[in-house]
Amino acid sequence: MTKRVFSGAQPSGDMHLGNYLGAFRNWVRLQDDYECIYCVVDMHAITVWQDPAILVQQTREAAAAYIASGVDPKKSILFNQSRVPGHAELAWIFNCVARLGWLNRMTQFKDKAGKNRERVSTGLYVYPNLMAADILLYKATHVPVGEDQKQHLELTRDIAQKFNTDFGVELFPITEPIIMGEGARIMSLRDGTKKMSKSDPSDMSRLNLNDDTDTLAQKIRKAKTDGDLLPAKASLLEGRPEAQNLVGIYAALMDQSRDTVCAEFEGKGFGDFKKALTEVVVTKLAPITEEMKRLQADTAYIDSILKDGAARAQAIAAPILMDVKKAVGYLV
Ligand code: TRP
Repeated sequence: MTKRVFSGAQPSGDMHLGNYLGAFRNWVRLQDDYECIYCVVDMHAITVWQDPAILVQQTREAAAAYIASGVDPKKSILFNQSRVPGHAELAWIFNCVARLGWLNRMTQFKDKAGKNRERVSTGLYVYPNLMAADILLYKATHVPVGEDQKQHLELTRDIAQKFNTDFGVELFPITEPIIMGEGARIMSLRDGTKKMSKSDPSDMSRLNLNDDTDTLAQKIRKAKTDGDLLPAKASLLEGRPEAQNLVGIYAALMDQSRDTVCAEFEGKGFGDFKKALTEVVVTKLAPITEEMKRLQADTAYIDSILKDGAARAQAIAAPILMDVKKAVGYLV
């Protein structure tokens, strides 16, 4: 069986270091061992309000970020979700397979809806069913996931299983997670217990892929830390979330273990460490930033990549969706 990876990110604003280290960089590494499909999930984005003119731009920006990070649009399939109608068609079928009780357990919905439960879109509620459709429309065997999407992948597996059982078919695979390494979880520069996120109101909390050198340097200088020195081993950073995060960023960008980083900087203060970190961040991000700028100026190129990717995705999806429709009993 083909080993096929599917993953996606939402086109909802500034791409940052957390996206790069937590997702894009890992996607790049999977390209040699799997057939990879990488999607800009614009349909997921509209589960909360998006200004249409901005959504179009951000869809291109996300695609540019994937490519600038090293996703090769020849090797992998890169497209925006709404272009392949099968996502919506399969999501509807999954709305009828998934149980209300399953969705009621989704912690991300509870977090996102908060006290606003009665006024969020119904799309936000069935968001995990659409994610299952993304994955299973291509019979993806593997999905790289961070901590926050694990529960959604579990749901995908439950939906695949129930579909196969209900309709007496062996149609969908039970998709395996690819758990990402140490670098996967990048936290806010202002609060080491919160994930680095584009929805954080403070721009100082994140390092954006389109920040210039001075901005990056300033954000790192102002990043929250404690007064203690760097210890000899990473395990001794326990209970110091901000220190842990900065060491983690350095380690991830240098492809070193946190222990190696600690050993190198043992006994130094965060003043010194931040200088070294700034240099690493600037050196590693500069080429990506440059390439993103170049790509974003070339709208025609990005658009042609996404259009071509959609056609290739459609070619994989069409026969699978046909089998699904027949299994369900649609007259086709
Ligand atoms: N929900 C994911 C996120 O917010 C994005 C996503 C949509 C996705 N469909 C997917 C990720 C399928 C992996 C596989 O990060």
